[in-house]
Amino acid sequence: MKLDVSIQEEGWDPMANGANDKDKKVLIRIENLKQYFPLKKRNIFDREKRFVRANDDISLVIYEGETLGLVGESGCGKSTLGRTLLQLYEQTDGRTIYYGRSLDELAPKYVLETYENLSSLYKQLLELRKQEEETYKEYEAKPEGEEKYEALEKYRQAEKAARNLFLDLAQLVGGLLVAEDLDTVSKVLLDQYKTSVEVTRLRRSIEEEKLEYESIKAKLKERGKSDEEIERATVKEREKIKELEEKLANEEKELAAKDKEVEKLREKYKDHPDYEKYEKYRDNGINLAKLTTEEMRILRKDLQLIFQDPYSSLNPRLTVGQIISEGLYAHNMFAKNDPAVQDYIIDVMDKCGLAAYFIHRYPHQFSGGQRQRIGIARSVALQPKFIVCDEAVSALDVSIQSQIINLLLDLKEEHNLTYLFISHDLSVIKYISDRVGVMYLGNIVELAETEELFSHPMHPYTEALLAAIPTVDPVDRQKRKDHYVLEGDIPSPINPPPGCKFHTRCKYATDICKMVVPQFEEVKPGHFVACHHKLNNDK
Ligand SMILES: Nc1ncnc2c1ncn2[C@@H]1O[C@H](COP(=O)(O)OP(=O)(O)OP(=O)(O)O)[C@@H](O)[C@H]1O
Ligand code: SF4
Ligand SMILES: [Mg+2]
Repeated sequence: MKLDVSIQEEGWDPMANGANDKDKKVLIRIENLKQYFPLKKRNIFDREKRFVRANDDISLVIYEGETLGLVGESGCGKSTLGRTLLQLYEQTDGRTIYYGRSLDELAPKYVLETYENLSSLYKQLLELRKQEEETYKEYEAKPEGEEKYEALEKYRQAEKAARNLFLDLAQLVGGLLVAEDLDTVSKVLLDQYKTSVEVTRLRRSIEEEKLEYESIKAKLKERGKSDEEIERATVKEREKIKELEEKLANEEKELAAKDKEVEKLREKYKDHPDYEKYEKYRDNGINLAKLTTEEMRILRKDLQLIFQDPYSSLNPRLTVGQIISEGLYAHNMFAKNDPAVQDYIIDVMDKCGLAAYFIHRYPHQFSGGQRQRIGIARSVALQPKFIVCDEAVSALDVSIQSQIINLLLDLKEEHNLTYLFISHDLSVIKYISDRVGVMYLGNIVELAETEELFSHPMHPYTEALLAAIPTVDPVDRQKRKDHYVLEGDIPSPINPPPGCKFHTRCKYATDICKMVVPQFEEVKPGHFVACHHKLNNDK
């Protein structure tokens, strides 16, 4: 039996979930991300396993160079999303694909496992597709009513499970999934993978050896040795590097040969009618959710977090210079004794508005705004690609807030950074963001460009949030009085309401809202919303 991706093909579009703009480069793609925190049992008779559903099935993309704002009431799961996508929490389910580096460059272990088990994973996929088809038939056969809604939910769960496994396989194997003999495919891909692991390992060793070499040279120089003496004392180190470089050149040749073999295999199946259908899912992104701790440690340099409370995140026993240099050493950006590190730190501090003489001071000697600058400098020094700013300005005075926001915007411009900017303050979000996502009880319920979201909110929750922004304009105030004011508390994420989670507080709710989860869909280009009765839906 072969795979058929025809049932829900448009739902499996690799460009879906906000990635329809082909001019922009996707940096991170999140698919069906879940973060459930397990709760302790209340007593020994408590059989049921309970969870805080802090993030519940979130799909979205983050474009390179953009600031994506994230708003929502306290406890809706904003921080959890930021931390989970950085893998500071182990992701419960779903995929988080990072395109800032390539799979070949990292050669993660999960790729090996996928190739090794290709045939059995494929069988598993066929089984999941069968379940998907069956649940779809059951759904179609049910008469209108509560049972049909339940069957629809069941079908959607089955479809999600099949889609995620399909994407896991197709992303790595692509068009070769059409091959009758998957064992050969597995073997050829494994050969290529193992060689690329060796290449990666050698490249890292060379990097480390070079750093060690620089460190020894700097130490000898400090002791007043001449250039010739240093040259003579480091013969062994240079030889080691040369030897590794020769090994690398050989392995690279080997890898080129393995690449050719894979190409040859692809050539063989290119004319298969379904080849292109699967091949379009193949890409070089890294699934962060599947990395080992060590693999993730390597990527930490690229993926940074700036906290709300800079004080608690700065080690009080270290000076500013030490705080910034820690990461530089950990990520092999500088050798321990390299005198150039001081200049580099002073340069970064200067960019972040910190005077050079602060370098020997301790965190307690600074104001809140300055401490936030230190936190930013520590992150930016690593030359990251993506930063989660979690309420990064919320604890600061309004005047300091705008200074820090402007600093973040300048740094973004200069280093082509991408931000996920989390805040409950809508005016800050409006100022800083290119696009805005609105969260409610673990889900993103609306996502659009900032201007579009603020002028044409389509989700009743967004409308209510916007109506809650204080205003001094009397006409505006009167208009809002007639409008919708958000009442009641956010329900518990342990036992969220069924159907649309907002139905307990929504004045537009009808029967369907209480039973069927609204799909997060693109209503206008780039404007996504999850609601059965969308507002302002004139297209
Ligand atoms: N480590 C954890 N273990 C268990 N539950 C957690 C954990 N972290 C967060 N939660 C729960 O997950 C839900 C979402 O919390 P989160 O901190 O992500 O919300 P938030 O939107 O950032 O809120 P705030 O605006 O107050 O910062 C909350 O119910 C919270 O209690
Ligand atoms: S789906 Fe229904 S309850 Fe949910 S926001 Fe839309 S109208 Fe309100
Ligand atoms: Mg938070």
